[in-house]
Amino acid sequence: MSSIEQIRQEITTATCANAEELEAYRLKFISRKSVIGELFAKIKEIPGPEKKAYGQQINELKTLAQEKFKQLVSSLEKEEAGTEAPPVDLTLPSSKAQPGSMHPITITRNRIIEIFEKIGFNVSDGPEIEDDWHNFTALNFPPNHPAREMQDTFFIEKNPDIALRTHTSSVQIRVMETRQPPIRTLCPGRVFRNEAISARAHCIFHQVEGFYVNENVSFVDLKQTLFHFAKEMFGKDTKVRFRPSYFPFTEPSAEIDISCNICKGEGCNICKYTGWVEIAGSGMIDPNVLQNCHIDAEKYTGFAFGMGIERIAMLKWEIDDLRLFTENDIRFLDQFKAY
Ligand code: DAH
Repeated sequence: MSSIEQIRQEITTATCANAEELEAYRLKFISRKSVIGELFAKIKEIPGPEKKAYGQQINELKTLAQEKFKQLVSSLEKEEAGTEAPPVDLTLPSSKAQPGSMHPITITRNRIIEIFEKIGFNVSDGPEIEDDWHNFTALNFPPNHPAREMQDTFFIEKNPDIALRTHTSSVQIRVMETRQPPIRTLCPGRVFRNEAISARAHCIFHQVEGFYVNENVSFVDLKQTLFHFAKEMFGKDTKVRFRPSYFPFTEPSAEIDISCNICKGEGCNICKYTGWVEIAGSGMIDPNVLQNCHIDAEKYTGFAFGMGIERIAMLKWEIDDLRLFTENDIRFLDQFKAY
């Protein structure tokens, strides 16, 4: 009798805050294996005269438990209805998407390719891990040239024959070894130099190499091609000048300057108050280089040029620190969404 009273108490005071608690109540008081179910099973142990009173009591208990269960179900339903999220309005405009943007190096590289593709250049590719032949020897570097030394070049596993390419000129050799003229191609890619990182220098940067080999290619073709490029890239008022220079793989060689597009030639700290900024190295491909690639230097001539993509991007957008290109600062990258 005392356990019946106890169960009655428990049922009257039962509460439930969620579906799990409701299920626990159901298992305890309603299901076949519930405490009340157990009381029903005991009916046969009860002595005859008390059976009727006992039966009545547990039947009342059962009804109480079921009534309470109904109450708990309906109060839980009410509660859940109150916390339901407001209906979704599918006609509302969506929240603003946050599109990414292309990296300024990618934008600049694509623009360079676009300009040269229109005048007949295609795009070639070469490996970033190079051997001495393609990076230096075939390009006519003398054996003791300073560029081969450890301070400039990252060598692989102490093998002096294998290195990370220091310039995209290596792709000139790769292409000329496998193709005969006419060749008119562009070779964009990453290059590596053992330099301390600063606003003006980096150990990883990008270059675009370009070259044209055919019969009767002359310095005039080189000049005209780069003249066209400078105007397309920086605007039609851009002035171009060729300054005599030296590279082992070209003869004659020239550095190409454009009128400073930031101060328009007036003088500023980007052009170091000269009114001119350098954009590329260039020259007529040295006959030795053609012969190294089994191209007949009596029959064919060619011009070549190489430029730094970072440098072009810095001039185009007045970026004054090389490190910005690799730091992935969203505030910097965000500014190129329009391109
Ligand atoms: N390879 C040179 C460098 O890394 C750039 C260069 C100069 C490339 C003259 C050329 C060239 O093709 O003709 O600085």
